[in-house]
Amino acid sequence: MRALDIGVGANCIYPLLGHADYRWQFVGSDIDKVALASAKAIVQANKLDKGITLRQQGSAKHILSGLLKADDRFDLTLCNPPFHASLEEATRGSQRKWRALGKADPKRKLPVLNFGGQNNELWCEGGEIRFVTQLISESVAVGQQVLWFSTLVSKATNVPPIQVALKKAGAVQVRVVEMGQGQKQSRFVAWTFQTEAQQQTWFKP
Ligand SMILES: C[S@@+](CC[C@H](N)C(=O)[O-])C[C@H]1O[C@@H](n2cnc3c(N)ncnc32)[C@H](O)[C@@H]1O
Repeated sequence: MRALDIGVGANCIYPLLGHADYRWQFVGSDIDKVALASAKAIVQANKLDKGITLRQQGSAKHILSGLLKADDRFDLTLCNPPFHASLEEATRGSQRKWRALGKADPKRKLPVLNFGGQNNELWCEGGEIRFVTQLISESVAVGQQVLWFSTLVSKATNVPPIQVALKKAGAVQVRVVEMGQGQKQSRFVAWTFQTEAQQQTWFKP
């Protein structure tokens, strides 16, 4: 299996897990040079260069456009998109979660964010819905180079507009898969531009 992790982040977590658990080959992309340098250092320190490669998305305005090479084929693309629309929103969300977890201590300085990434990993203009709808519209042009696209969606209210965007984009099949971990309810959305017949022959030489 060959997978593309869009927004691989400083921790390179999905490629590390996917390669260790399933032996999948990964390309990880990001716009953030610091995140990519960190991911690269992790890959090199663990001698995983043959299984995981990293690619910079050179245009902050794009996600998939200009990223794939003409001969790239990915069985799956993954994405954990930036979910907040601003740094303030990301910080507020984080503090709310810490309070809910009973960890708020007036004497103690709260962590700025409850995420092991850099500040700008958590937000982008327009938040999750803008990022995912852009990802969908850019996926059309590379729809024949990928079997399934997928993305996590943290806000349930974002699912209906995402479904509308997928319909407009002409996705052949769409799946919304709910996931529950403890009190946290999450989901991912997957879509393909491959017909049933194309899916059947995808893995055939
Ligand atoms: C929520 S973080 C996910 C990091 C990591 N995948 C994880 O799950 O821990 C979102 C990532 O998307 C990256 N990103 C933002 N805009 C991007 C774009 N246009 N193309 C690729 N990556 C982007 C950010 O730099 C950040 O690393």
